[in-house]
Amino acid sequence: MKAKIVILPGDGIGPEVTREGARILQAVAKKFGHHFDTEEQLIGGAAIDATGSALPPATESACKHADAVLLGAVGGPKWSAPDAKVRPEQGLLAIRKALGLFANLRPVSLHPALMDASTIKAEVLEGTDIMVVRELTGGIYFGEKIRTETTASDLCSYSVGEIERVTRVAAQLARQRRNKLVSVDKANVLETSRLWRSTVEKIMQTEFPDVELEHMLVDSAAMHLIRRPTSFDVIVTENMFGDILTDEASMLAGSLGLLPSASLGATKLGLYEPIHGSAPDIAGKGLANPYATILSVAMLLRHSLGLESEAQAIESAVSSAISEGVRTADIAAAGPVASTSEAGSAVVACLS
Ligand code: IPM
Ligand code: MG
Repeated sequence: MKAKIVILPGDGIGPEVTREGARILQAVAKKFGHHFDTEEQLIGGAAIDATGSALPPATESACKHADAVLLGAVGGPKWSAPDAKVRPEQGLLAIRKALGLFANLRPVSLHPALMDASTIKAEVLEGTDIMVVRELTGGIYFGEKIRTETTASDLCSYSVGEIERVTRVAAQLARQRRNKLVSVDKANVLETSRLWRSTVEKIMQTEFPDVELEHMLVDSAAMHLIRRPTSFDVIVTENMFGDILTDEASMLAGSLGLLPSASLGATKLGLYEPIHGSAPDIAGKGLANPYATILSVAMLLRHSLGLESEAQAIESAVSSAISEGVRTADIAAAGPVASTSEAGSAVVACLS
């Protein structure tokens, strides 16, 4: 198959990890006889430096005309002054919105060899396999922001339609997995959460009566995630709760550098990115873990291009590389430390 993939390296460790992602894409193309045409575009701080905008029109247009987008990370101290007029993160939020990517899938699974990389006891972790579906284009991230000399406010709002569509994505995933959905909200305090809860309830009763549904308050969910992670199958939640809970959940897997994500909308066009940030402190040193980005490439092949065998080939290649002991600093424990490109090379080798 032929496909056009736009790569947005972004800032910090973004260029290093997307470089490895691009290598894996080409290795898959070679092995399976596909042609992936890749094109790099600017986003985030790199785009601000070059054009003054965090999402230049050329980037937005290239993404809209692509089959899929692979992104590294955005942000860094250079663009984070409290009075900054434009911030790298605005580019990421704008591209998610422009492409209508309302459902962000963040799978959390464990590699047996990495039990020691997590700070949580192995007997608690054993068998953890969670899919978090984070609503991505609504809530407090996108509401009106007001700032005066002495006050500030961020509006959180949700519509029934926004809640319904992400609930359907999560419920369908639950059907393909262990048929269990936990909806996370703060319905004891927030009006948006009460709308969230009643809307999820209605969709599940009318369209997915076969899927087990549990509502959980976000504070309690944060606690249960590390207390009994194996009891979760699919979690659906609003934008900010999903952001926070998935950083927490990455510690079950052992490192933020292991978690991929897929941002999906109403069409096949999706955006794929590791859930980690730009990690400016380690940028350019070859220390970054490329596995989250490489696993995001697997999700890209699965969800945007329909290439399931190719996606699985990447996932087992990453698993083999980890089993062989190829670990970057974040998951190395007491063993040898692989560089970003060594880890990428190990996956390419395991693929062929
Ligand atoms: C993420 C990140 C972003 C978010 C930031 C960089 C805007 O934390 O993708 O989880 O909050 O969505
Ligand atoms: Mg985050």
